[in-house]
Amino acid sequence: MANSLEFEAVVKGFGSVKALDHISFSIKKGEFFSLLGPSGCGKTTLLRLVAGFEKPDSGRILLNGKEITDLPANQRPINTVFQSYALFPHLNVWDNIAFGLRIAKRSKAYIKKEVEAMLALIQMEELAYKKPDHISGGQKQRVAIARALVNRPTVLLLDEPLAALDLKLRQRMLLELDLIHDEVGTTFLYVTHDQSEAMAVSDRIAILNRGKLEQIGRPIELYEAPKSSFVAAFIGDTNFLDGWVAEQKLKEYSLLSIKEFPQVLCFNDKKLSVGDPVHMSIRPEKIHITSDKPTDKPLVNCMQGVIEEIIYQGDHTKFGVRVGTHRIIVFQQHSRFLLDEKPMTWNDKVWLWWHADDGFILERYEVIKEEESEISSLKQELV
Ligand SMILES: Nc1ncnc2c1ncn2[C@@H]1O[C@H](COP(=O)(O)OP(=O)(O)O)[C@@H](O)[C@H]1O
Ligand SMILES: [Mg+2]
Repeated sequence: MANSLEFEAVVKGFGSVKALDHISFSIKKGEFFSLLGPSGCGKTTLLRLVAGFEKPDSGRILLNGKEITDLPANQRPINTVFQSYALFPHLNVWDNIAFGLRIAKRSKAYIKKEVEAMLALIQMEELAYKKPDHISGGQKQRVAIARALVNRPTVLLLDEPLAALDLKLRQRMLLELDLIHDEVGTTFLYVTHDQSEAMAVSDRIAILNRGKLEQIGRPIELYEAPKSSFVAAFIGDTNFLDGWVAEQKLKEYSLLSIKEFPQVLCFNDKKLSVGDPVHMSIRPEKIHITSDKPTDKPLVNCMQGVIEEIIYQGDHTKFGVRVGTHRIIVFQQHSRFLLDEKPMTWNDKVWLWWHADDGFILERYEVIKEEESEISSLKQELV
């Protein structure tokens, strides 16, 4: 499919802050594409460059193959939806949506047809004559989306459009946004700091960190095969283990030596050799936890630990298990009725194990202590 937007080595600084540091990637026509990253990583700056509110210091931006780097904002077929709805308070819903078409001097009949189509799309026909003060936050955001789509932009930019809404409404609006996207087929460039939002609706996601592009991929690629420890920690929860390659096994598997662990067998497509340092990650839901030592098959990556934290969540339990000086996080999915079973509890000795294919070796490892606390506080906010 053809590209809608292309970024070529885009740089933008504010004084000593490099808001965007040589960003290059492209977005396909009709894609629902998200920019995801912690607050301050450069997401809004990138959107403002696309909209034409700012110019890059260097690099180029192309729309449908034509350079728009220096094109004035009002000549770009691009609209933006902001977190703060920015509706005209004195105009009713109908007139808010019609505004752009009136500016463009469209005929009365055309405006009527298009506004009515938009009202149907956002299912607000009955509220067409209400003023923004008399509708809810979710309804205001629907109007803002309709107003931005009515003159059929080539690209719709959405900057944290749901951030002001509460969790349940956010989830519902997200589904609606997805349906609207399917309906209109416009390229959506969606900005959020909420990984679950981005995962739920995006065709692809670009992860930004401090002005740099960390990784681009489909949600499943970012979750199952993150390239850096930043991405592994930002998307979902994970455990990190540090060690070195002890022995190369058949084809693509390596035995890793990890302090205080039995040897760990891990898929290794990174062409690492014996003695090389490795940083691996294993997701909490991929670790099995049992009271008795598993005996039914030849097990690898099997170790004993002690439960020191239990958080019961109804559908699953989160365990913190001490193995040496490591704390391993394990999610146990409750796929059966549990009340009749003897539960595992604090200070129990338990067994952990996982398949060699389920851990992965990271290409790039950063000390992420600082971001880790930033990431966990972000995730707290979203609960
Ligand atoms: N107009 C500006 N003047 C000075 N610094 C700015 C300006 N806009 C953004 N920045 C800085 O650039 C960085 C990226 O900001 P921004 O793109 O708003 O991040 P995000 O949208 O990901 O939260 C931040 O460090 C921010 O403080
Ligand atoms: Mg922002």
